[in-house]
Amino acid sequence: MAATFAVDHASETTHHVSFDLAELTKMYDFTGLVVAVTGGAGILGSEMARALAGCGAQVAILDLNIEPAKALIHSLGPHGKQIALHQCDVLNRDSVAKAART
Ligand SMILES: NC(=O)c1ccc[n+]([C@@H]2O[C@H](COP(=O)([O-])OP(=O)(O)OC[C@H]3O[C@@H](n4cnc5c(N)ncnc54)[C@H](O)[C@@H]3O)[C@@H](O)[C@H]2O)c1
Repeated sequence: MAATFAVDHASETTHHVSFDLAELTKMYDFTGLVVAVTGGAGILGSEMARALAGCGAQVAILDLNIEPAKALIHSLGPHGKQIALHQCDVLNRDSVAKAART
């Protein structure tokens, strides 16, 4: 399905943009994918985790401090099941390897 819209920037220039809605929707479908979010318990990471879960991803949050992410999981209701918490130091290879095994 194709869609077209015009953007008028309050100037004499109007830009016409075309895109395929089905293709666009597919780009945001993360069903069946696992996404690791480093620093995922922080301000930016937790919002990324929330958005990715909303797009169907299984999200692995890797963070030194996973405590704040527990509130995120709670706020997502049933979608909270899509988020797994891994306490680890992403700058430490052994710590990341250990998280990958759990
Ligand atoms: N928040 C903003 O508006 C903003 C804007 C521009 C840039 N940034 C940058 O983006 C990055 C993230 O910002 P934020 O606001 O989400 O910060 P934040 O402090 O809320 O989150 C960072 C997270 O990373 C975790 N972390 C730090 N070192 C780690 C390590 N070695 N292993 C695993 N986890 C680790 C922390 O525990 C924390 O949960 C920062 O570099 C910040 O400077 C933020």
